[in-house]
Amino acid sequence: MLLPRATSVRTDEGEFLLGESTVITASRKLTATALWLQSTLRPATALLLPAGPFHPATRHSITLEVRPELGDEEYCLTVTPQTVLIEGGSPAGVFYGCQALLQLLPPAVHRRARVSGQRWAVPAVTVRDEPRFRWRGVMLDVARHFMPKHDLLRFIDLLAMHRLNTLHLHLTDDQGWRVEILRHRRLTEVGSWRRESQLGAQDGAPGDGRPHGGYYTQADIREIVAYAAERHITVVPEIDVPGHSQAAIAAYPELGVGGPAREVHTRWGVNPNILNTEESTLDFYRGVLDEITDLFPSRFVGIGGDECPKDQWRADPRTQELMRERGLADETQLQSWFIGRLGEHLATRGRRMFAWDDVLEGPVPPGTAVASWRGMTGARTAARRGHDVVSCPDDQVYLDYRQSEHPDEPIPFAVPLTLQEAYGFEPVPDDLTAHEAAHILGGQANIWTEHMDSPRTVDYYAFPRLCAIAEALWSTGARDFDDFRTRLAAHLPRLEAIGVEYRPETGPLPWQTRPGIEGKPSTRLEWAAFIDDLVTHIKG
Ligand code: ACM
Repeated sequence: MLLPRATSVRTDEGEFLLGESTVITASRKLTATALWLQSTLRPATALLLPAGPFHPATRHSITLEVRPELGDEEYCLTVTPQTVLIEGGSPAGVFYGCQALLQLLPPAVHRRARVSGQRWAVPAVTVRDEPRFRWRGVMLDVARHFMPKHDLLRFIDLLAMHRLNTLHLHLTDDQGWRVEILRHRRLTEVGSWRRESQLGAQDGAPGDGRPHGGYYTQADIREIVAYAAERHITVVPEIDVPGHSQAAIAAYPELGVGGPAREVHTRWGVNPNILNTEESTLDFYRGVLDEITDLFPSRFVGIGGDECPKDQWRADPRTQELMRERGLADETQLQSWFIGRLGEHLATRGRRMFAWDDVLEGPVPPGTAVASWRGMTGARTAARRGHDVVSCPDDQVYLDYRQSEHPDEPIPFAVPLTLQEAYGFEPVPDDLTAHEAAHILGGQANIWTEHMDSPRTVDYYAFPRLCAIAEALWSTGARDFDDFRTRLAAHLPRLEAIGVEYRPETGPLPWQTRPGIEGKPSTRLEWAAFIDDLVTHIKG
């Protein structure tokens, strides 16, 4: 009943019963994992589960061990009536074995206070398991709607439960700047809140008249990063440039191309107000990235690069002068040049750039990993050009897209992306050579939050589709949707015990609908033509 599905599960005779005499044993290297397991099992079971090094006299133990001969994230879980043995190739592998153990226990194990009258039995099994991809991610847009730290930590627990290992945090956009930057305080003083938000997806949609905001202090970020790391999740920050930058321009008008003062944007969609490319603007962002790389130890750092309309650069004499000075033929080259400078800066800090597939319109600095979002065209092009790829094709993993054709879907946007379609997510294009396909690091779901104004709404859009995507990224072997649905039926009570307000299979609950707020649904044909047009310059 594991979700994501394991490589192999053999059921044996008997069961292991968690009780007063159960102890957790682990080598020093696994102390953090042992303490995490203890603190996870304790609230519902009310068992002490003392943790310590292995002792030959130990009886009735949950034993955690690193076995270097296993793959890095591989685990082997062996349950007998006397012991639960969790072996992993690294602490991450052991952690995933612990997650599998939680799924063998009753769902009530996820409750946060003592559950009386519950037997904590684990069926005797032998599980062998390892992931298909090393980048198993979710992008969360905390810029359009802020997710408070408390809820973000809960979200991280939900990722860990599904053996996802990457949280890409979209920290800045036109509508908000969400991370404290000590050398540029106005980014959060001014940029972290907006006057109101567009209600619905239509161009002429009304504003809600209600301020929205919030940001993470640097202490918050350190806590989030450490909390994720304890759960073997890497947080990949993204500072989006040179488009999607109006919150920064509102705080520091000198970053913009001129024109009237701008407020933090209150409308959704692609925005013409972009950064200028002065050396002073690059210096500003080098400073931002210095603080970001101090806060986030991730190998990759996102710089965005998506949806940057070039009209302001075309019309601006100073930008045209800069292009001539730099020997750049057009505005696309200017964008590549700008991003290239930031990529060089990241490289001096030992980091690699991570960018949306729009950057393929020009030359891309070596070492950049490309997130293919407008279908899989970017994945093909980037892999063929020798870049690593994170696949996140909109029609398979954009969790802001409506979940069905149901008339009650809240603020229905784009095309339906059903649970079954999410389950079918395939990160590797089948027309790549083996050499090219080796560049596909994995994939991620993207959760854009224009229409998700609370963590409850994020739950509705994310679950259970994220369960399906987690399986697509973790499990090897042929997909079997019926088998997945059977295991999902056993998994939903776990989500319920945690308090996840997922979308019921039958459609939204009355309080999950948004009557009267207009969406912008498309047919598949319209949408395919729209995306095809967007990617004409990155084909090949
Ligand atoms: C994107 O959806 N603008 C990457």
